[in-house]
Amino acid sequence: MNIQTNFSLKNYNTFGIDAKAKQFVSASSIDELKEVLTANNDIFILGGGSNMLLTQDIEKLVVHVNLKGRDIVEENDDFVIVKAQAGENWHEFVLWCIDQNFGGIENLSLIPGNVGTTPIQNIGAYGVEIKDTMYSCEALNLKTLEIKTFTNEQCKFEYRESIFKNELKNQFIITSVCFKLTKKNHKVSTTYGAIETELQQQNVQNPTLKDVSNAVIAIRQSKLPNPKELGNSGSFFKNPIITKEAYEKAKALHPEMPHYAVSQTEVKVPAGWLIEQAGFKGKRFGDAGVHKNQALVLVNYGTATGKEIVGLAKNIQQTVLDRFGIAIEAEVNII
Ligand code: EPU
Repeated sequence: MNIQTNFSLKNYNTFGIDAKAKQFVSASSIDELKEVLTANNDIFILGGGSNMLLTQDIEKLVVHVNLKGRDIVEENDDFVIVKAQAGENWHEFVLWCIDQNFGGIENLSLIPGNVGTTPIQNIGAYGVEIKDTMYSCEALNLKTLEIKTFTNEQCKFEYRESIFKNELKNQFIITSVCFKLTKKNHKVSTTYGAIETELQQQNVQNPTLKDVSNAVIAIRQSKLPNPKELGNSGSFFKNPIITKEAYEKAKALHPEMPHYAVSQTEVKVPAGWLIEQAGFKGKRFGDAGVHKNQALVLVNYGTATGKEIVGLAKNIQQTVLDRFGIAIEAEVNII
């Protein structure tokens, strides 16, 4: 393995922040990961770099998880269990599944990042989350160097949350993920408004997996910036979940505030709406900005530092709190 020093992470984070790693190594097998972990105890694990904001250089050994491969581990006439290694690019994996006519993750097309990080924040889009199809995942315990299998239930998935972001934070490296997908009678999910509209525009009556994927790709491309062209990490904030009472209070002052029911007692409010109403959509401050088509997404126009982007995020959070009495939390990991 080739350990590099003073290594720029600019091409390893979708925000395109030019922070440096004191040391950097890319591990392509579990044995290599174990070797690195045995020799070093202060490491930073890097996956696809699509959900983090680097605000400083990393004075550690950065270990890039680069395990590759996809296998069918089990199948019958109706279902297949597919295992993808952590370093597989997520979108390429989704497209491969669609090509094999395996259904269940097509709504998650075009999400940046790698397979191994998808369970950590239970990625979700257009009415579907990873928890709906994730069968199990394997993870390497950083201390014992043993591989442990986590079932879907053990991952404790919630909206953009899992055990790996909470109780087990920084204790495991996810090495592979298994998905249980349909081989026939696919249950395509088109209930998310924008998908239906997109399919109608394309005159599609009985959408295939590919049709749904194409619709999602079209919607994402119209709203979300391509990280290769404009640095970003997707939604920077989570949509806040607040009590019905808090919602009623805010709504009395802002009757047009949208919301979605989450439970009997809680509602979710789109943070994009709050940020847009607070006047930030499309605003640019130096090279840090708020995307013009989706206010949830913060962007790096070129040379913004992580600290500048965090400064903008704090300004947004405070303004939204002052104006609506609602706290919005970052979704992105701030390093
Ligand atoms: N809205 C605005 N202004 C904006 C953006 C949104 O008013 O600039 C309001 C609109 O009322 C809109 C509503 O927010 O109807 C919802 O917007 P959208 O459908 O774009 O979804 P979102 O809640 O803003 C979430 C996810 C996205 C995911 C989309 C589609 C989170 C934090 N974000 O965004 O996920 O693609 O739904 O399912 O839950 C990501 O996590 O990186 C991500 C892009």
